[in-house]
Amino acid sequence: MTSLLRLSIPSDAHRWSDERRLDGQSIGLVPTMGALHSGHTALIERSKALCDHTVVSIFVNPTQFDRSDDFDLYPRTLEDDVALCDSLGVNAVYAPTVDAMYPEGFDTSIDPGSLAHRWEGEHRSGHFAGVATVVTKLLTAVQPHIAVFGEKDFQQLAVIQHVVRDLGLPVTVVGEPTVREEDGLAMSSRNVHLTPDSRAEAISIKQAIDRVLDRSTSTDSPSDIIEQVTTDIQQAGGTIDYVAVVDRSTLEPVADLRLDTQLLVAAWFGGVRLIDNAALVATE
Ligand code: PAJ
Repeated sequence: MTSLLRLSIPSDAHRWSDERRLDGQSIGLVPTMGALHSGHTALIERSKALCDHTVVSIFVNPTQFDRSDDFDLYPRTLEDDVALCDSLGVNAVYAPTVDAMYPEGFDTSIDPGSLAHRWEGEHRSGHFAGVATVVTKLLTAVQPHIAVFGEKDFQQLAVIQHVVRDLGLPVTVVGEPTVREEDGLAMSSRNVHLTPDSRAEAISIKQAIDRVLDRSTSTDSPSDIIEQVTTDIQQAGGTIDYVAVVDRSTLEPVADLRLDTQLLVAAWFGGVRLIDNAALVATE
């Protein structure tokens, strides 16, 4: 018999959390949009290792999509997701309806500031305000001690850490490394939309990143790296949104490689937009 609880309105999530907190038990939240894969599973396992109770939220958040076709086509596999959570020993799935999250008259939005302006923010208008607002609402409903996010969405993780800090939200944000397919493609719920041809092209993102990481001495400048990654992906058939080498805390472009730089990539393959990233370290 399943012990997994299904919560669907904020006040139920709040009450469930209150009861556990009163008993002195810790709660971990893994916010997702469903269509769960092994990347999400890694986040769930991390939460389980850190907390007494793990809640997975599943909500395809309309306010963070800049294109209605992307929202409409986003894979929705709620019953399979709930079954997976159950098999993983998740304590509760919080899957609110759009109306429960955004009741009539809802008109508040969190502006996450300058970290959200570039890269994903520039290419997906309003995306991070949607993410910041929904994550704040999820944190408010579930009141976790810890919330786990993937480094796969590097800028999203930075934005959420920033919002949590600025608003003084009583939660610790934990980042989990990117989980990849066997050939290196970062797992993503959108990968199911790749045709066999675009799936084969998409591996060029990780190959281009690895070509940068594999250099024994990295005397290349960020502009050399950006050019090489751009060329590699374009030659494979991808269309670049951006390739950037940034400071890991400000997400501003850097002129020289330092210890704390991150390579960010976003590219399209046959109508599917993918993102990836990697830490860069100058070796001399
Ligand atoms: P979603 O794309 O479902 O991702 C949920 C969480 O899983 C995010 O923290 C994301 O970074 C992480 N994740 C996705 N693919 C991963 C991978 N291959 N390896 C490790 N972690 C991975 O990100 C969102 O949903 C939404 O924006 C959300 C934060 C839930 C707000 O709506």
